[in-house]
Amino acid sequence: VLCSCGRSDNKLVMVAEATFPPYEFREGDRIVGIDVDIMTEVAREIGKELVVEDMSFDSVISAVQSGKADVAASGITVTEDRKRQIDFSVPYVEARQVIIVPGNSAIKGRDDLKGKRIGVQHGTTGDAYVTKNIQEPERFPNGALAVAALNAGKIDVIVIDGEPAKIFADRHKNLLILPEPLTVEEYAIAIRKGNTELLEQVNRVIRQLKENGGMAAIRAKYIK
Ligand code: ARG
Repeated sequence: VLCSCGRSDNKLVMVAEATFPPYEFREGDRIVGIDVDIMTEVAREIGKELVVEDMSFDSVISAVQSGKADVAASGITVTEDRKRQIDFSVPYVEARQVIIVPGNSAIKGRDDLKGKRIGVQHGTTGDAYVTKNIQEPERFPNGALAVAALNAGKIDVIVIDGEPAKIFADRHKNLLILPEPLTVEEYAIAIRKGNTELLEQVNRVIRQLKENGGMAAIRAKYIK
């Protein structure tokens, strides 16, 4: 009702930054991943067609606020700051921020980070953690570009979410994830404040998927 973007009402529009496997990533010209599968279930449940749009991570929340999108499902960590801007569904997974280094790095943990060139994905909780607790990081539009910079020796470490980190480290055998996580967080779906109908629908589907094994099946599909 609040949307003036000319889309018809039988569509459920989801936004995500789609270089974040296993949650959202491109497979050919399709965007797939855990978040897409969860939202496909929601769309099915409410009889709408899911439309997935890719945008930079630092704009997914404002897209929901403005009504450009119905939901942002983008591996979004629940934070107090974000709670002031949008409503969060019940969480659907626990996550962590981790440190990725080249295998031959002298950096062994959090205490070695000061003064190093630290890459993060712009606008993420990794960005916020490093900025607040260590120093100004080098901000990249997405994790893939941060990995390219790390491989090119332009930065010393990356701070990023643990599951994408694992996939990046699988693809680049020279990279290592340090065992000690920096944070423990939870992911949830972002919905415009006041859209309680959709919030309840999303919550209902997440609870169902957790109870009936659907969530485990979705995760198993993308996490080897
Ligand atoms: N969990 C982190 C955050 O909420 C990073 C999420 C990045 N997601 C993405 N699809 N690129 O800030």
